Amino acid sequence: MIAIPNLRALQGLAGEKLPPMAFDYYSGGADDEITLRENEAAYGRIRILPHMLVDVSVVERHTTVLGRRVAMPVLAAPTAFHGLAHPDGELATARAAAEAGTIFVLSTLSNTDVEAVVPAYDAAAGPGAPGVWFQLYLYKDRAATRALVERVEAAGCRALVLTVDAPVIGRRERDEKNRFGLPAGLTVRNMVAHGYGTLASPDEGSGLAHYVATMLDTSQSWKDVEWLAGITRLPIVVKGILRASDGRRAKEAGVAALVVSNHGGRQLDGVPATIDALEPIVAEVGAELEVLVDGGVRRGTDVLKALALGARAVLVGRPLLWGLALGGQAGARAVYSVLERELVQAMMLSGVPTIGAIRRDLVKQAWQIPGRSKAELAPP
Ligand code: GLV
Repeated sequence: MIAIPNLRALQGLAGEKLPPMAFDYYSGGADDEITLRENEAAYGRIRILPHMLVDVSVVERHTTVLGRRVAMPVLAAPTAFHGLAHPDGELATARAAAEAGTIFVLSTLSNTDVEAVVPAYDAAAGPGAPGVWFQLYLYKDRAATRALVERVEAAGCRALVLTVDAPVIGRRERDEKNRFGLPAGLTVRNMVAHGYGTLASPDEGSGLAHYVATMLDTSQSWKDVEWLAGITRLPIVVKGILRASDGRRAKEAGVAALVVSNHGGRQLDGVPATIDALEPIVAEVGAELEVLVDGGVRRGTDVLKALALGARAVLVGRPLLWGLALGGQAGARAVYSVLERELVQAMMLSGVPTIGAIRRDLVKQAWQIPGRSKAELAPP
């Protein structure tokens, strides 16, 4: 396992190790990848205004998410097919999250059954660990979706994360070119029992695009959030919200939390960076719902910025896959350690010794600082 200098450096290292099809799948975005780049760039336009001469001899970075203690406000975002990065796949990433004391969100599109992932997490976790959540896609086959939800509950997951930004998959040109598919031995494991486990390389185009187009429900709407609430006792977290009005609808639908997300720039290209979309949504529903954010978090200072703008916690996706590819469980674990170290340092240098001390006035958009123009600070 290599030493990790920082999260941004990991992508290049993982690119040298992973087969091109897997690297392109993980790293790519939709169309021109404008939103993919913007997710990271937007953090670079936010400035921190630190407090001086605050006692930071003790820094407390733990918080709660849906009432459970997490060791730091960083969760594992749901990402698909960890078996492409490492033979241990989701078992390794789940154990790493458990060791880091945070929540692991398992994707519907995992290479490992939920019934294996939850015990692996639990065995690696300390007492009071916040547990595993399950990211759900709504299949056209509602009986299969329902059976999956029942399995997820029985396995011991603690929340359902309903992805709402993917009635169809974004056009990922890298995957189209590579004819993306799962190699022999890997399946959409959770769905094997329900008849939807195969995702092979097609003759042309992306196998995932084909899978989603044939299996997932393009008719899904807000009434399906109510349908889901009616068949589960788990809290529902809606992931993929970018507008305040949808935040309000999610609240009215009775969800427990929402994730401001653009699916890592992999769905509709041209939508804003999630960190730019966050604040209006927090203003609309932040008093009533926990609002999480994913996309572009690469530094401890990014976590600080997201919390200052109202996020309860952030989720990290690609860097954990790079860590997994480079060093299995230990590699993914190291990603949390780097972020934790950077977050603590950022908190110390900002004069905020607790998560509760991170408030809105800690950050400004760079162009709001006198003497700097928006154009000057725009990313290249
Ligand atoms: C799956 O959700 C993906 O974005 O590839």
